[in-house]
Amino acid sequence: MKGFSILSVIVSVFRAVHMEQIFVYGTLKKGQPNYFRMMDPDNGRAEFVAHARTVEQYPLVIATKNNIPFLLNVPGEGQRIQGEIYSVDQKMLKFLDEFESCPDLYQRTTVQLEVQDGLGEGENTLESGSFVNASVYSTTTYEPEWLQKPTYESYDAHGDHGLRYVRREDRSPE
Ligand SMILES: *[C@@H]1O[C@H](CO)[C@@H](O)[C@H](O)[C@H]1NC(C)=O
Repeated sequence: MKGFSILSVIVSVFRAVHMEQIFVYGTLKKGQPNYFRMMDPDNGRAEFVAHARTVEQYPLVIATKNNIPFLLNVPGEGQRIQGEIYSVDQKMLKFLDEFESCPDLYQRTTVQLEVQDGLGEGENTLESGSFVNASVYSTTTYEPEWLQKPTYESYDAHGDHGLRYVRREDRSPE
């Protein structure tokens, strides 16, 4: 059985180095319109790690005629953003890059987070109140007037802003 446990250590180390922590704040969160895509094994693997909020403030706005949430890469403006940290494998990361039209629409950058609760299990545990860096899809390629839009601390597609998110499949061509 010793050989088996060494193998499982190697496997978990291999998995750990190939996993990446990403912070989601919009439609990929639990209960939001694109959550199912992260839970679809065909797209790869995503494991919930913790709820967290950004250390710095950012404008989180809803823009375009499809009412898409964007975290504008303008630290110091807006609010500290609430979201969720997931540990994802390389396959899921590649899927998300394509899904988020990275790097055209969003760019994957690093964000500093304060962990709010560590509900993850095993290697995914993070202590509440601790700080961690994760990848985030934020945007620097925004229209100047987006900076005038209302900002949100926590995105909810069904919030009382009434701006209905249009799923990719339902969008009309430009
Ligand atoms: C996160 O990144 C910043 C900037 O690179 C660095 O100063 C900080 O120590 C990092 N924090 C953690 C918890 O790794």
